[in-house]
Amino acid sequence: MSQIELLDESAIRAELNSAAKQLAQLEILQTVDSTNRYLHDKKDLPSGYALLSEQQTAGRGRLGRAWVSPFGRNIYLSLLWRFCAGSTSLTGLSLAVGVAVINALESYGLTNIGLKWPNDIVCSQRKLGGILVEVSGDAAGPCQVIIGVGLNVQMPQLTEMEINQPWIDVRTISNQIPQRNRLAGLVLRELLLALPEFQQKGLAAFQKQWQQLDVFYGNTINIHTPQGILEGTARGIDELGNLRVEVDDQIRSFNSGEVSVRYADPKNTPV
Ligand code: BTN
Repeated sequence: MSQIELLDESAIRAELNSAAKQLAQLEILQTVDSTNRYLHDKKDLPSGYALLSEQQTAGRGRLGRAWVSPFGRNIYLSLLWRFCAGSTSLTGLSLAVGVAVINALESYGLTNIGLKWPNDIVCSQRKLGGILVEVSGDAAGPCQVIIGVGLNVQMPQLTEMEINQPWIDVRTISNQIPQRNRLAGLVLRELLLALPEFQQKGLAAFQKQWQQLDVFYGNTINIHTPQGILEGTARGIDELGNLRVEVDDQIRSFNSGEVSVRYADPKNTPV
């Protein structure tokens, strides 16, 4: 059995610093179906309520996919946040969350990590983590957001088949036994700092850093739409977080709810 560090509230809180005042409560579970589902179904939780679990039995990924969540190995974190300006003001929130997670990983000491639109955390063209933002409430009034972050920290031996795409973990990148509590605390700290910033300034406050982390920029990509596959050159994001793609000398924008994107160039395809 390889060495693992179980979740510990005081070790996680030790990383929060000035962000701690935004944290309403931190709950740690041994197992749950999905941390996002748990927060969604618990009524009347305050903004800033965070949940971590050692395991998820039905972890949820984007586009209806499952998120593989073995016990004691990774980070499965959900944070509830309330916004009063309505769900339409939340366009681009998941991209801002991606920047916050990268900031946490860099504070932890990792380098060469990037973002694959809309918000996959990647390293060496393999997936290190993912973000699932679920919004409920009013389009123009009060609404609640559950921000789910999954990070591969110290995966047990799994085949690529089980995860269905190339992946990597913190252990492999750092070549050290991961400090899971420190990392969880840093991710929570960066989220608690980023959300008030997003609330005030929107995606604009994160757009420049997002563009610097964009692994697709300038690459030829395939955009999988319900109508078929388009090829173009990635040109970053617009102010709403849509992907800008140059197709036949024209810039077109794509919404993350509608399309998925892959490298078109076979030499960029991960082995
Ligand atoms: C993705 O598909 O890239 C998003 C994955 C998000 C996984 C996290 S783990 C914590 C939270 N709870 C869930 O059920 N999903 C998110």
